[in-house]
Amino acid sequence: GWDARRAREIIAEFSGVEGAMLPILHALQGEFGYVAEDATPVIAEALNLSRAEVHGVISFYHDFRHAPAGRHSLKLCRGEACQSMGSEALAQKFLAGRSLGWHETSADGSLTVDPVYCLGLCSSSPAALLDGEPIARLDLASLDEAVDEALA
Ligand code: FES
Repeated sequence: GWDARRAREIIAEFSGVEGAMLPILHALQGEFGYVAEDATPVIAEALNLSRAEVHGVISFYHDFRHAPAGRHSLKLCRGEACQSMGSEALAQKFLAGRSLGWHETSADGSLTVDPVYCLGLCSSSPAALLDGEPIARLDLASLDEAVDEALA
């Protein structure tokens, strides 16, 4: 979990370093798996920036999580080959069915959905990674089934 003291130590290591924002955020996410909201004022102070600036950077880079990731991870491919096979509509239906948006985690903490841009499975698109395992030739039924099985 998040440890505010440890977070402060990490941030302090970069204090006064030019361009330290992204290295700090990566270091925090590497340590805790996400960047908690309460890091924002600490980073702002260390780098002599406004909170709004820090918040803007964290929001701009979707790789940074604001909360711990779910127990299961689904990465849906949004690459060109998958798009040509309907991956966008599939993703929208799947996400709507689970009341989730990209990069979001379900309320019970069971599933996080992120986009990826080509998994090298283009010939079997639409494709995805479910807990690191490739699943391919997806439609809504097979995707729902695979996810439900993983969450069961
Ligand atoms: Fe989706 Fe290549 S574009 S696997």
